[in-house]
Amino acid sequence: MIIECPADTRLQEYLLKKDIHIFTPCGGRGNCAKCKVRILKGEARVNTMDRIWFSQKELEEGYRLGCQVFAKEPLTIEIYEK
Ligand code: FES
Repeated sequence: MIIECPADTRLQEYLLKKDIHIFTPCGGRGNCAKCKVRILKGEARVNTMDRIWFSQKELEEGYRLGCQVFAKEPLTIEIYEK
């Protein structure tokens, strides 16, 4: 599923408001990577937990931990619903 996440928004909160659910078995602590999403358009910061779970190639392809994404600008994101 592809969604548009508005600027200044935490992705996980946005999805909950829209009643869209992704896998978050670790509760959003960055410990499982089951919440994987892919940024298709826009820049999403890479944080320490993203670097633990994803290779440089995957990061360049846009993969991020969905629970950690904060959209500073509008983002187009592929998500994997549970
Ligand atoms: S919910 Fe576990 S890493 Fe995001």
